[in-house]
Amino acid sequence: MNIHYDPAELFASTAPYYARYRPGYPPEFFSYLADRFALNGAQTVLDLGCGTGQIAIPLAPHVARVIAVDPEPSMLDEGRRLAAEHGADTIDWRHGDSHHLHELTLPTLDLATMGASFHWTDRDALLAELDTLIAAHGAVVVLSGGAPGEHTPAPWEETITDIRTRYLGPARRAGSSTYTHPKESHAEVLARSPFSHVDTVTWTWHLPRDLDAIVGLQFSYSYFAPAQFDDENIRARFEHDLRTELATQFPHGDFTDIIHTEALIATRP
Ligand SMILES: C[S@@+](CC[C@H](N)C(=O)[O-])C[C@H]1O[C@@H](n2cnc3c(N)ncnc32)[C@H](O)[C@@H]1O
Repeated sequence: MNIHYDPAELFASTAPYYARYRPGYPPEFFSYLADRFALNGAQTVLDLGCGTGQIAIPLAPHVARVIAVDPEPSMLDEGRRLAAEHGADTIDWRHGDSHHLHELTLPTLDLATMGASFHWTDRDALLAELDTLIAAHGAVVVLSGGAPGEHTPAPWEETITDIRTRYLGPARRAGSSTYTHPKESHAEVLARSPFSHVDTVTWTWHLPRDLDAIVGLQFSYSYFAPAQFDDENIRARFEHDLRTELATQFPHGDFTDIIHTEALIATRP
């Protein structure tokens, strides 16, 4: 079953938090891509669901052009701002989404990357469309934090979930609907697509975080988006409760995360 989320509403109001608190991906991932696909500054890459540029910005120096596409205008604005700070001036920031790719009149692509965005798309239809856009030697690269349930959650996850449930209910919100994790894994969907040869590469790394960072991170999630709260007073009360509870239970103030990055590198057989 395909659930159609409205891309325009999922991440509204999260962008400043996203730009500041989302960790992005380890440098080893970008070196891996550069080696594996012999990136030499000549390639064209589509980064679909680019957010504030977690892939597009570090990838830009390796290729000729990154076309960074996202349905959320404020994500694109933050991305442009961060790219300017990093001197990444070869990124073409475009408003769009997976359901309307054809409207972007894209050139032939060497790679299409999706960082934590494939689950928002109609995956089979998207892969069929990418098959018409990606060159013979090219690939689809899907990045995520690994399958849910595979990793031990950080000790503070339960505290955060309890407070979220108190304020927003037990269901994981997604815009004006709720999120259902797809039954089929990304790897399974890729394996029956034109890009059926799938290699999985993983990296585990540590990201130091303090209380401000762990609280700010929450507002970068679609299901914790500031817009999910009925009004600013309730959001502020939620933030206050979250800070107090986390500071009481974890007085050391160290919320260092162990992050598992998983890349599915999908090529044609
Ligand atoms: C979790 S963020 C990932 C951002 C960034 N790629 C990263 O790796 O951190 C998901 C992004 O996908 C975008 N998005 C949601 N639905 C989409 C769709 N149907 N097509 C393309 N992008 C979509 C959201 O606006 C959001 O910026």
